[in-house]
Amino acid sequence: MTGLMEGRVAVITGAGRDTGIGFATARLFIEHGGRAVLCDLPSESPKDRAATLGDNAIGAECDVTDAASCAAAVQAAMTAWGRVDCVVNNAGLTQRRKVAEVTPEDYDLVTNVVLRGTLLMTQAALPHLSRDGSGSIVNVSSLSALQGGGIFGGPHYCAAKAGVLGLTRAMAKEFGPDGIRANAIAPGLIMTDFSRRGPSADPGKIEAAKSYPLGRPGAPEDIANAALYLASDLASYVTGVTLSVNGGSFIA
Ligand SMILES: NC(=O)c1ccc[n+]([C@@H]2O[C@H](COP(=O)([O-])OP(=O)(O)OC[C@H]3O[C@@H](n4cnc5c(N)ncnc54)[C@H](O)[C@@H]3O)[C@@H](O)[C@H]2O)c1
Repeated sequence: MTGLMEGRVAVITGAGRDTGIGFATARLFIEHGGRAVLCDLPSESPKDRAATLGDNAIGAECDVTDAASCAAAVQAAMTAWGRVDCVVNNAGLTQRRKVAEVTPEDYDLVTNVVLRGTLLMTQAALPHLSRDGSGSIVNVSSLSALQGGGIFGGPHYCAAKAGVLGLTRAMAKEFGPDGIRANAIAPGLIMTDFSRRGPSADPGKIEAAKSYPLGRPGAPEDIANAALYLASDLASYVTGVTLSVNGGSFIA
């Protein structure tokens, strides 16, 4: 099946690393006829990364914790293609901490990127989001939000990712009458830089994935496929859900 994103424009945050979920999602959307703005911090060279995907990708240096930066990324889409159909709020980071170890600075850093960033980029895109049925918001949460950690997430990360689920549901209710859907994905263990920097760098964790019902850790493409489903008309009657993509490692 091809062409699921034909004519559609997506703004995807945290898409600057070619090993990450955001980049895999941009690549898949473009393979399906879409166009994408790859947003990331300047240190990740999102413009260089976008150039590797051809004319249907542009890069935007964007810090999702800053409203003006989000607005500029959305404006880049409007200037280039005159529309925004989809926002994938994927930027994130975690820290390995116990509850007593989380400093106010740690809390602010993680919560600002994960939760505030999801709100700010959505607010920036909202006035432009298509209301013809193609409007879709896909928020990348985490299995940590559902099971209280266990892979990489410190407690503040779990809380922020759980906040993303509540925010997603509120968006689904508020935006549904405008023809805009909002859904979340809760990835389990996915092999990206994120996971390699986390405790899963322990080969034992990778080994443990063999005990999952599907017998392996996830790949960025597994999450990109879920994002494509939620962004496309395949999910035209789906809003407010949390789609777990975890190989069966947590079944609720
Ligand atoms: N890899 C996993 O196992 C896993 C599991 C559950 C959830 N997730 C979530 O998936 C998402 C993507 O993670 P990934 O695994 O691809 O890791 P990644 O580290 O490759 O991607 C995260 C991206 O977010 C960007 N980012 C961080 N702060 C930002 C900011 N202020 N503004 C803009 N961009 C910023 C980073 O530069 C990076 O490119 C994250 O939200 C993460 O929490 C990942």
